[in-house]
Amino acid sequence: MESPFKADILKGKVALLTGGGSGIGFEITAQFGRHGAAVAIMGRRRQVLDAAVSALQLQGIRAIGVQGDVRKKEDAARALEMTVEQFGRLDILVNGAAGNFLASPEDLSPNGFQTVLDIDSIGTYTMCHEALKYLKKGGLGRDPSTGGLIINISATLHYTASWYQIHVSAAKAAVDSITRSLALEWGTDYDMRVNGIAPGPIEGTPGLRKLAPEEMKGKSRETVPLFKIGERWDIAMAALYLASDAGKYVNGTTMVVDGGLWLSKPRHVSKEEVKQLSRVVEKKSRTSPTGIPTSKL
Ligand code: COA
Repeated sequence: MESPFKADILKGKVALLTGGGSGIGFEITAQFGRHGAAVAIMGRRRQVLDAAVSALQLQGIRAIGVQGDVRKKEDAARALEMTVEQFGRLDILVNGAAGNFLASPEDLSPNGFQTVLDIDSIGTYTMCHEALKYLKKGGLGRDPSTGGLIINISATLHYTASWYQIHVSAAKAAVDSITRSLALEWGTDYDMRVNGIAPGPIEGTPGLRKLAPEEMKGKSRETVPLFKIGERWDIAMAALYLASDAGKYVNGTTMVVDGGLWLSKPRHVSKEEVKQLSRVVEKKSRTSPTGIPTSKL
């Protein structure tokens, strides 16, 4: 689908994206590139990185891949150094690397719980912490008058609770909290913006394959407000908005891009029944305890 944004909105910008070699992360990387940014992707799998970089370069996008694990501080530091060495500066950090698997609390060891927190929460914090010297106003290689920005990829699982996702819910809750704290602290001190994106179910991603069963597609509009699964493009457009000057006054928010899904829940009483009931109940409540209609009192 064609982008509604001008092709040069990220011209001259440099972005580093963890988990940017596949899935939603790759679509964000590609759209950043198509809108003028030079991109560096960090990931654990060499083959995935190489394939992603080739695909980007074929589109004329300046791209490099850096193999590394966000759980290792030295990998984080190296990926940032290589990005700035190659492209001269850093403007945008996207923290997309995440770990996920389905496990009940009974079957999930504390180490399994910690593994996901290490990747999602501590990994996000490590990347932010290591990137500060490049992203802050006056940071290495930067135009001294402005700061850069961070986008943390989150989820909506933890707004309520999700089966077999206790570890991921806890990890993403921490990510959202990091987003708000850094928006306050680094917005104030370094002219940086820090925001998040919480995708809903997105077509063709490991997240959807793992978390949303096929049957979801057949659900009624009552349970899926916009009645469709999202596309990677939807998340990339949200990221472009936040990364561009269009989002220059947006700081500390986690933008939910899920078609309104998290607001819905299984309806134990149908909407039609509630509507009928409201007519009866509201009519009754408009009558005072004496039986005289309240409008007549
Ligand atoms: N169920 C229960 N526990 C699990 C598990 C599963 N499916 N997968 C890993 N764990 C536990 C392990 O048992 C271990 O705990 P233990 O030592 O107490 O037994 C702990 O997690 C670490 O496992 P390990 O395999 O050594 O971790 P890892 O660092 O190699 O990889 C992940 C962990 C999360 C990165 C890996 O499962 C993964 O790559 N997942 C896919 C990433 C993904 O789906 N990303 C898309 C996000 S939507």
